[in-house]
Amino acid sequence: MCGIVGAIADRDVALVLLEGLKRLEYRGYDSAGLAIIDARAQLQCHRAVGKVNELEKLLVSKPLQGQIGIAHTRWATHGKPSDLNAHPHIANNEIAIVHNGIIENYEKLRARLVDFGCVLSSETDSELIAHLVYLHIQSGKNFLAAVQATITELEGAYAIGLLSRTEPNHFIAVRSGSPLVIGLGDQINFIASDQLALLPFTQQFIFLEEGDIADVRLNEVIIYDTHGNEVKRDIHYTKLDQEEMSKGKYQHFMQKEIFEQADSVIACLEGRLSYQRVISEAFGANANEIFKQIRHVQLVACGTSYHACLVGKYWLEEIAGISCQAEIASENRYRQHVVEPGTLYVTLSQSGETADTLAALRHAKTLGYAATLAICNVPESSLVRESDLVLMTGAGMEIGVASTKAFTTQLVALFLLTITLGRNSRIDQNSEAEYVKLLRAIPKKLRNTLMLDSDIKNLAIKLKDKNHVLFIGRGIEYPIALEGALKLKEISYIHAEAFPAGELKHGPIALIDSEMYAIALAPIEDSLDKLKSNLQEIRAREGKLIICTNEEAGFISDDQTSLLIMPHVHKFLAPLIYTIPMQLFAYHIAVMKGTDLDQPRNLAKSVTVE
Ligand code: F6R
Repeated sequence: MCGIVGAIADRDVALVLLEGLKRLEYRGYDSAGLAIIDARAQLQCHRAVGKVNELEKLLVSKPLQGQIGIAHTRWATHGKPSDLNAHPHIANNEIAIVHNGIIENYEKLRARLVDFGCVLSSETDSELIAHLVYLHIQSGKNFLAAVQATITELEGAYAIGLLSRTEPNHFIAVRSGSPLVIGLGDQINFIASDQLALLPFTQQFIFLEEGDIADVRLNEVIIYDTHGNEVKRDIHYTKLDQEEMSKGKYQHFMQKEIFEQADSVIACLEGRLSYQRVISEAFGANANEIFKQIRHVQLVACGTSYHACLVGKYWLEEIAGISCQAEIASENRYRQHVVEPGTLYVTLSQSGETADTLAALRHAKTLGYAATLAICNVPESSLVRESDLVLMTGAGMEIGVASTKAFTTQLVALFLLTITLGRNSRIDQNSEAEYVKLLRAIPKKLRNTLMLDSDIKNLAIKLKDKNHVLFIGRGIEYPIALEGALKLKEISYIHAEAFPAGELKHGPIALIDSEMYAIALAPIEDSLDKLKSNLQEIRAREGKLIICTNEEAGFISDDQTSLLIMPHVHKFLAPLIYTIPMQLFAYHIAVMKGTDLDQPRNLAKSVTVE
C-alpha cells in the first residue's frame, strides 16, 4: 500500500526515482508524485492522478533536475485520489514528505495543527507529518532532531521519507510498522518500500528494523534505533534477478505466474525432500526439537493465504491427526485466545509484510504459544525476521496483484508441515514415503492441467457477461472454491461467492435461476455422491453448471452442464491441481472484459495498512 522511493546522488535523480516508482506500482497506483531539491536549493514537486505513466508525462513536459529527491505511488487511505492528496506533501516550501501507512491519531494532530494556524492543503494524514517536522525546525531543531521529535507524536504505522530544503545534503527515512529498505550504490544511496524498486541500480541492501531512523547521505547512511543510538545494520546482497520482473512471452504477469507454477513448486520442494522423507531441518535448525512438543496448530493469514490455511487445516487434521484452527489475521489479532499447551502459531504470507498478519504474529508472541512459524515468499520480510521458524515458499517474485504461484507453493509448504508434524503422531515411514511420492508428482500434474488452458478459455466465454457466479466445493475443495471466487472478483469485478455444496439448500439456493452459473469442483473423493445431489438441486432450478472433474467421477455434459476434464490426482493433492482452472477462469474472463488485471482497481499487492 503506497510505494516510496528516495535517492541522493552525484547526478540527477528524477529518472531514477521514476524507474523505482514503476517497479513499486504493484503497491498502489491511484496517483503518483516526485519532489526534488534543485540546484537553487528550492523544492520542486510534480504530482499526477492515475498511474505512474501520468507522472512520467508530466516529467517529460516539465523535467525536474536535482541530486536529491523522494517519490511516491499512492493507494488512497485518507482522501480520494487527487492531485492535492497525492504525495509528496510539502509544508511551507521547506519540508517534503512521502508516507506509507496510517497515522491513527490523525484527527487530534490535524485539530492541533489547524489551531496552531497551519494551512493544510490535502485531506491526508501524511501532510500533517511534514507540518510537525516544520514546526520543530522553527523551534530551533535541526532536520534530524525535528524528525526524531515528530515521530514521538505519531501513533500508527508508517514508513516515511523526508526532504528539508535547507539541508540538501541528506534526507531522512523512518520505518515503524511499514516496510523500508536502504539501497547502497556507487555515489548514490536510496530508500524504497521494497528492494524490487532498486534492482536496476544496486544489489546491496540494509533492511531497517522497527523504529529505525536513517540519515541518508551521498557517501554514508547513518542509522539510529528507537532510543536514538547510532546502530550498525547488516548489509545484504540480494540474488534477486531483474529478469524476473519482465513478462517474457506472456501478455500479463498474472498469466506468466500461473504458467510458472510447476517450476515454482519444484523450487519449493528443492532441498526439502530426501529420497523418502521430508527434511524437517528445512523449517530451521531447531525445528525437530520444537516440533516434538507440538500438539495443536493455529494457522493465520489474509486473503488468498488464508485460503491456503483452510486447506492446511484439513490436511493437518485428516493426515497428521493434529488439531488445527485456521483464522483470518485481522480477526485473530483482536480476539481473546485460549492457547492450548504445545500450540504452534503459523502465519502464511506471500509478502511477509501484510499489516494484519504481522500484527497478529506480534500479538501471538505475547500469548504463550509454543513457537511461531512463518511460511513466506520474501526472505527479507518482517514476518520471516520475527518468527522462530521459517519455511520459504521459493515461488520467486510475484508481481501480478492477484496471488497465484504464491498460493500453490504455500499449499506445498503446508503439506510438508503436515508430514513433518504427522511423524510425531500418525505418519509412519511407509506413509511418509507415499506422501513424498505424491509431492514429487505435483509439477507434472500441474503441467498437464495448464495444458487445459484453451478449454478453460472456451468455457470462460460463457461467464464473461455474467454479473454473478457461484463456486461450489465440498471438504478440501471448498477453500479452492473460495479462492476461485476471490480471483474472479479481484480481476474481473464480477460478483462471485463460494459455498460448501451442502450449504446451498440453507439459503444460497434462492439465488439460482436460469441466468446463474455455478462452477463446481468435483474430483473423485469421499463425498462425491453428496456433491452430485447438490448439483442436481442447482440443475432442477435451471441453473447452469461448469464442473471441473475427472473422467472416473462419471459426470455427463448437456445443455445445462459443461465439463472440464482434469488429470486424475490423489484426493489430498486435488486442491493444488484444481486451483489452476480457478486462476485461468478468472484470468481469461478478465482479459475478455479488458480489465487491468495485473493492477486491478482498488487493490495493491502488499497490504501494509490495517
Ligand atoms: C489475492 C491476494 C490477497 C493476498 C492478501 C495477503 O489474490 O493476493 O488476498 O493474498 O492480501 O497477502 P500476503 O499473502 O502477502 O500476506
